[in-house]
Amino acid sequence: MAASFLPSSFLGVFLFLTCFVYLNGSTSTTRHYKFNIRMQNVTRLCETKSIITVNGKFPGPRVVAREGDRVVIKVVNHVSKNITIHWHGIRQLQSAWADGPAYITQCPIQPGQSYVYNFTITGQRGTLWYHAHISWIRATLYGPIIILPKRHESYPFVKPYKEIPIIFGEWWKADPEAVINQAIQTGAGPNNSDTYTINGFPGPSKNCSANETYRLKVKPGKTYLLRMINAALNDELFFRIANHTFIVVDTDASYVKPFKTDTIYIAPGQTSNVLLKTKNFKPNAKYLMAARPYSTAASGTFDNTTVISVLEYDVGKTTVANSSIKALPVPPLPQINATTFVANWTNGLRSLANARFPANVPQTTQRRFFFALGLGTTPCPKNQTCQGPTNQTKFAAGINNVSFTMPTTSLLNAHFLRQSNGVYTTDFPTTPLNPYNYTGTTPNNTMMTNGTKVVVLPYNTTVELVMQGTSTLGAENHPLHLHGYNFFVVGQGSGNFNSTTDPPNFNLVDPVERNTVGVPSGGWVAIRFRADNPGVWFMHCHIEIHITWGLRMAWVVNDGKLSNQKLPPPPADLPTC
Ligand code: C2O
Repeated sequence: MAASFLPSSFLGVFLFLTCFVYLNGSTSTTRHYKFNIRMQNVTRLCETKSIITVNGKFPGPRVVAREGDRVVIKVVNHVSKNITIHWHGIRQLQSAWADGPAYITQCPIQPGQSYVYNFTITGQRGTLWYHAHISWIRATLYGPIIILPKRHESYPFVKPYKEIPIIFGEWWKADPEAVINQAIQTGAGPNNSDTYTINGFPGPSKNCSANETYRLKVKPGKTYLLRMINAALNDELFFRIANHTFIVVDTDASYVKPFKTDTIYIAPGQTSNVLLKTKNFKPNAKYLMAARPYSTAASGTFDNTTVISVLEYDVGKTTVANSSIKALPVPPLPQINATTFVANWTNGLRSLANARFPANVPQTTQRRFFFALGLGTTPCPKNQTCQGPTNQTKFAAGINNVSFTMPTTSLLNAHFLRQSNGVYTTDFPTTPLNPYNYTGTTPNNTMMTNGTKVVVLPYNTTVELVMQGTSTLGAENHPLHLHGYNFFVVGQGSGNFNSTTDPPNFNLVDPVERNTVGVPSGGWVAIRFRADNPGVWFMHCHIEIHITWGLRMAWVVNDGKLSNQKLPPPPADLPTC
């Protein structure tokens, strides 16, 4: 796969149709795409499988736009399963109908049906991504969203010679839908993926074709911009290239102060732009790129394989044999459970926060929330045998002891029509009903309650949310993703959050701005945001098995008074349930 491209030359190639509008003295463009969702045969780990793809591609095609552009994507469902697509990290200002999570902002696109997603990219530049947002279909249905600076604007760092997406994923020999359906049935943990992938390729370790290894061909002495995405379902990852270092310049489509590192840590859902300066190595020099998980879960409960790719200096057209790739040294990566490394790494990220790209951190907050989140259990249905963590239980996960039940119709539609009765209730607990030592030993009662509960916020509320990871049934890291917003990560720490001693240390000057943040394993994180986008916004752990188990909830943000503060009516082609 030729993954490299020049920012100036690739735009036209991927666009289905482009039209220009002159607006406020700057050119903004509407970019049209068509996504045909279809089955495609793909060979990995020496086996050919039929998988769900966009336009037959795995990973899916690039969506390329500039900041300020409108993007219009017609999605046509040619497969036998329901589909929705989420544009992960796109703010969707006044366009909640285009956000995509099934049963939250829309009913699914049924087989044979289509839906047009229509949104404008406002105040974001960097890399985001799209993925299916129903069941585990995102295992194979995902791709990059590349947001370039506005025309005639430049990056606040050296102009890269080339830009390259680096997308991490997971590959199952089994059908991921069968894997999750079985786990739901038994209440046990799901089977692990068989390998990780980089740009869809597992690497040479399984002795399949040499074409199953991703190769990044580079020239010496140049700056490459790597657009990284962690699209893996269940695993946070460390990534390193032997003999090279990185400078992180952007996370979740917001600029950060240049951050030098030899290792990248990236959680599912997160994206990052990273500069890679190639050295003056001789032609044919080759270095391994490797990624493997960060996890504090029990061994055996996650895929702990290492995916390998190759960085190749001026090798021309030759395909390097698996045997010679395997002879190269694998770059050393942090320990699998390197929680302190992750804490130091994430603490190093700071917003660029300059005059051109200010960090508009809410300095005061009107509403405060404390969410304790982690694993738990739910009862086994009668006449069934379950294989959850304790006798006759199923694994569950939740927030403040609520394991969120998915509705069978769209929450956004119910909200818009003021017909929430029987669909959702507005009594989501803003703090735990029964506080306990969250990071101590597992309490005797691990049962969670079920419900479709939301928090309602008036337009423009400033919110502070502390998310406390629990160690109930084992402390695990939870990358929490909020739809429709970026938030500022104002604090993080290990152990239990202390509401007296921790807030004075919050960074209200240049905290990193993200849409997905890791709640540290056995620790807490504090975020702030302004609820300036009307709609219903999903928030969930981006580890797919945790979202399945119920670690999810929704915020309902009401309309403001002005017309530009209101959710417009739904598009005519919005799918029905
Ligand atoms: Cu990337 Cu709700 O997800």
